[in-house]
Amino acid sequence: MAGINLSDRSKVLAIIGQGYVGLPLAMAAVDAGWSVLGIEKSASRVEQLNSGLSPVEDISDARLAKAIKDKKYVASNNPSEVANASVVTICVPTPLDESRNPDLQLLESATRDVAPHLSSETLLVSESTSYPGTLREIIIPIVESLKSRDVKDLFYASAPERVNPGDPVWDQKNTPRLVGGIDDNSQKRALAFYNSICDSVVATSTPEIAEAAKILENTFRLVNIAMINEFTQLCSTQGINVHEVINAAATKPYGFMPFRPGVGIGGHCIPVDPLYLTWWARKRGLVASLVERSDEIANQMPTYVAERALAIAKGSMIEPKVMIMGVAYKPGVGDVRETPASALRAALVARGAEVAWVDPLVPLWEDTQPVTEEWDCDVAIVATNQPGLNVNSLLARGIPILDCTNNYGDQTGVELL
Ligand SMILES: NC(=O)c1ccc[n+]([C@@H]2O[C@H](COP(=O)([O-])OP(=O)(O)OC[C@H]3O[C@@H](n4cnc5c(N)ncnc54)[C@H](O)[C@@H]3O)[C@@H](O)[C@H]2O)c1
Repeated sequence: MAGINLSDRSKVLAIIGQGYVGLPLAMAAVDAGWSVLGIEKSASRVEQLNSGLSPVEDISDARLAKAIKDKKYVASNNPSEVANASVVTICVPTPLDESRNPDLQLLESATRDVAPHLSSETLLVSESTSYPGTLREIIIPIVESLKSRDVKDLFYASAPERVNPGDPVWDQKNTPRLVGGIDDNSQKRALAFYNSICDSVVATSTPEIAEAAKILENTFRLVNIAMINEFTQLCSTQGINVHEVINAAATKPYGFMPFRPGVGIGGHCIPVDPLYLTWWARKRGLVASLVERSDEIANQMPTYVAERALAIAKGSMIEPKVMIMGVAYKPGVGDVRETPASALRAALVARGAEVAWVDPLVPLWEDTQPVTEEWDCDVAIVATNQPGLNVNSLLARGIPILDCTNNYGDQTGVELL
């Protein structure tokens, strides 16, 4: 393909899916000397990428444009290009379906798209998050049934991505990478590949261990977030400042890790991955009851926050005006996927409120435009502490604020969760 040097297949990487995971991986691989084919289904995203415009915050336009100019990166929507690569990684979304069960359709169709085009001696890695057994039970059977007849020696591994969008410290290079190959040869190749990109690679004895570890990491976060949100509600009924409690507990030098309350859980990982675990348990006739309960508590939190805010606005008003400040699922990113602000807005509207929002990093949210901080409201909720939020402009006008982020508690007129 035009754009990059394909003459040395051993240094050509194809990445399926060019989003929050696939594009940063592509740039890390370019830095490590790979020529990268970014295989992307969305034609408009391919066009955007090849114009040097990055769709994700963690990759600057300048970095992408340089990789293109140096002929080290090109995006394409033609999956047959994987024939040029010695390593193919799958980085497509693994969401939930309408029943909140794992939806592997995109992963399966991406696998079907590339399987017939893989060359002999190719390493295929899944980086997408999924339940243990996905590589062995879903991906490999699809490839083995669709691969070209004369193709020999395909190698398979799971290496779940741990990227944390917006994190200024941890990225693809310096975050230790779990790698689980299906057999010794696969493991050897997968370790060599990730060692060429990452500072630290951790071998697991099977792909299932790597897949399960990724699910454990995010389930650990869900359970602890739910626990602190429940604890916050208990403290609030007794007038106890939960943040002081957390700070006090965190002075213990061992055995405690502070988690903070908030509007709920958001993003593509914490609200989703633990449900891959609960589904996986139920498929085996078991119930991951603590995880299921944590999911319920986390999902009730936006309603609790809405009621707290409306109480501040003196619930007797007919149609209180409420401003949500920060609607992305976490600070520093414009990503509104699975943001708990959606459930917060719905809970406020269901209780008769007129709701508007501001977020310096989000131009459009669920087909609605932001207002400015000048919007006249009865109460504001700081849901996500986005850089650039102007809380002072509301306080100066005497508008009470419910701060769910523990950033403005020392100011008059601000109530913390
Ligand atoms: N975003 C995160 O913070 C994060 C962190 C760790 C792991 N993960 C996991 O990584 C995986 C990818 O997530 P993401 O956030 O990068 O998703 P994303 O939505 O940002 O990007 C995925 C891209 O894949 C493309 N795509 C879908 N099907 C395709 C196909 N058949 N061929 C080519 N391209 C296709 C989509 O158009 C999209 O551009 C998921 O399993 C997710 O759980 C995400």
